[in-house]
Amino acid sequence: MKYSKYSAVIIGSGIAGLYAALKTEQQVNLPDGLLLITKSKLGESNSRYAQGGIVGVMKENKSDSTASHISDTIKAGAGLSEFNTVKYISEHSDEVVKDLLKFGVEFDRDEDNNLCFTKEAAHSVRRILHSGGDATGKMIEQALCKKVKENSEIQIYEQTDAVDLLVKNNECKGVIIFNNITGQYETVYSSAVFLATGGIGQLYKYTTNPAGATGDGIALAYRAGAVLQDMEFIQFHPTALAIDNDENRFLISEAVRGEGAKLCDADGVEFMYKYDERKELAPRDIVTRANFNEMIEHNVNNVYLNASCIENKKLAKRFPNISKKCLENGIDISHDFIPVAPAAHYFMGGVKTNIKGETSIKGLYAIGEVASTGLHGGNRLASNSLLECVVCAYTAAEYLKSINLKTPKQIDEELKSVIDEYNNEDIILDEIDVSSLKTKLQNIMWNYAGILRNEQDLCLALEEFEELQREFPRKNKCLNREEYEFRNMLVVSRLIVQCALLRKESRGAHFRTDYPQTYDECIHSFVTKNEGVPDFVK
Ligand code: FAD
Ligand code: SIN
Repeated sequence: MKYSKYSAVIIGSGIAGLYAALKTEQQVNLPDGLLLITKSKLGESNSRYAQGGIVGVMKENKSDSTASHISDTIKAGAGLSEFNTVKYISEHSDEVVKDLLKFGVEFDRDEDNNLCFTKEAAHSVRRILHSGGDATGKMIEQALCKKVKENSEIQIYEQTDAVDLLVKNNECKGVIIFNNITGQYETVYSSAVFLATGGIGQLYKYTTNPAGATGDGIALAYRAGAVLQDMEFIQFHPTALAIDNDENRFLISEAVRGEGAKLCDADGVEFMYKYDERKELAPRDIVTRANFNEMIEHNVNNVYLNASCIENKKLAKRFPNISKKCLENGIDISHDFIPVAPAAHYFMGGVKTNIKGETSIKGLYAIGEVASTGLHGGNRLASNSLLECVVCAYTAAEYLKSINLKTPKQIDEELKSVIDEYNNEDIILDEIDVSSLKTKLQNIMWNYAGILRNEQDLCLALEEFEELQREFPRKNKCLNREEYEFRNMLVVSRLIVQCALLRKESRGAHFRTDYPQTYDECIHSFVTKNEGVPDFVK
């Protein structure tokens, strides 16, 4: 096996990973260099598909303030948002957005060159910055990718998966990586390993997340003994295009509702007034359950979004990609109803971190969607995720300045047994039909641990996971990427279901039909691996 060492390794090239790489290289002394590894091509990520925008609490926006953004975030978070985290992230919004502008990100502006702000659900003012109309993620990611590629100090490995972390005495010493093209393994020693591996949408049958969102970073951190937080909190977006021809469903941005579009049934009858006085702009969990409920009551596979009330010129300018995608599917959004249904979208839970990205394991950091900082609580406010990615990457890079990043020279003998297993070419693994197992798992999660949950279904899910585990008897080393992803999906799915079972209340995106009430006390859930089994810490 090949060995290498770097002062810092960043795993993942979404907006969190790309921005962390640029800021770390810019600010930190890296005697052994910086490595960025990513599972697919550089920039392929959830970030690339972000549409609505990024929260910009900008000093020049006189109608907005950090106090108002903090209040909106906390209200949406259903009692689980951490005040200090929310405050810190909100107060750094202006600074990081201005830094993104320096890196070449262009946000949409009006005729007078002022930044344009839009509104999304549960935001009390217009504060969302967007780019390319409805292509915010792609525009930010392209600008950052360009800078990363131009920077010769950042070593990039594409098509490379992190498969295990090297942890001894609760300190991370590096990572084992697998090249998906050559099938070769490499051990990378490093004093600072960053997980920027994104979310888990692919655990569900219906999701807005692309193929790579398989929860790898969360599984790696758990396997290594890190503390995870609020694993039961999955955000389902209310309006994914209800047409299946890819591995995920195309998103119809909340910003379309922000500009005035209405939810309705096939006859155009609106229904949101029955569920919340804020109607289409109620928090996402409420709109999702409303759509889901309408679908169940009328025994249909989708509801509709009517955007025809938005002026044609505005629709085309603000939502060029949504208009195009719908037209490719025979829907002219200026007068046809758009068929929409909920889909798994975002993970509020994840690896527990502080604002600097520190996890419970020394030398292991997590930033972006993989992390649970306490910003989103039980229900994320739209467009806060991209903001969290950049503020936390920025802060983690700042923090690294104070750390000695000299990587020890010699190989750690005690970690050799972990490395040896991946190195052992005598281990012959028979091929497993992972794609059918993956479909089974996605159905189990959608049917038993989805938008509405109850004890019976969650227990059924656990039983079915046992069966899947029997059909997939891998513990560590796997045959290929698909197997590694499935290994990780199974770990994370189990933890989500176990945590959902333990939370005997309904809060934010976690809705138990058998426990519809909300506790007075707001408590996070924590889980860590203790002697090989989950330990649910109070
Ligand atoms: P990602 O962007 O998902 O990047 C993860 C990276 O890690 C990828 O490059 C992946 O290939 C890599 N990776 C994963 N596992 C491994 C491994 N084992 N080894 C190596 N590499 C690995 N949020 C907003 O704030 N505003 C929006 O408008 C918005 N719109 C959205 C629209 C859609 C369709 C989706 C899916 C999400 C949207 N979100 C939005 C959420 C937001 O895009 C994500 O939460 C955010 O981009 C996550 O960024 P990230 O860098 O943490 O992870
Ligand atoms: C959207 O555009 O509706 C998604 C925004 C988000 O997830 O923050």
